Amino acid sequence: MDIKSAEFVMSNSEIAKCPKALLPEYAFIGRSNVGKSSLINMLTNRKSLAKTSGRPGKTQLINHFLINKNWHLVDLPGYGYARVSKSSKKTFQKFITQYFSLREQLVCAFVLVDIRHEPQPIDLEFMQWLGENGIPFSIIFTKADKLKPKATERHIDTYQNVMLETWEEMPKYFITSSSKNTGKEELLAYIDELNSNIKL
Ligand code: GTP
Ligand code: MG
Repeated sequence: MDIKSAEFVMSNSEIAKCPKALLPEYAFIGRSNVGKSSLINMLTNRKSLAKTSGRPGKTQLINHFLINKNWHLVDLPGYGYARVSKSSKKTFQKFITQYFSLREQLVCAFVLVDIRHEPQPIDLEFMQWLGENGIPFSIIFTKADKLKPKATERHIDTYQNVMLETWEEMPKYFITSSSKNTGKEELLAYIDELNSNIKL
């Protein structure tokens, strides 16, 4: 799929105020700093459509982007950032879970995981929660440029083994690098396929 247009639509913290249009929607979620906003820029061929930062906690709201005039990409705040105060962490968590529970247009959640790290309880718990709530998701491993191919393979194997302790099968996953444009075609082809099968 070619991205012909990508426009910022709106930012907000209230699910009720998200765009009303019944367009297929894909959301990026994961720990702060994992590379959600960078991935959106990579997919849309734009340097700073979504705001990125080396400091975790950059994205604080629900951001909608309209792609090719007929579907939405959503950039969300990260979870699990220790330096955010407890009360704002709670607020974040509330609107993130509300977003996933209430957003009818959501076709698939992409859970981003830094490929360098061991499986983290917070990600595993979040995927468990998605599963329990019947929300379809795929995993996107990020920052693949930071590992050699052999190490990438090893880390994926480890991840898969941990997932198989609680899941019947490994969810669909993608290996990406926003700095090297890795995984873009596969991810866009997948979204394209979902778009053509969905009826909202
Ligand atoms: P929050 O909005 O704070 O939750 O973070 P985020 O998940 O949106 O991460 P963001 O895209 O802002 O990227 C965080 C940092 O990781 C930035 O310094 C990026 O340049 C860097 N980064 C993101 N993707 C990649 C990647 O594929 N490779 C490398 N090497 N660095 C990356
Ligand atoms: Mg961000």
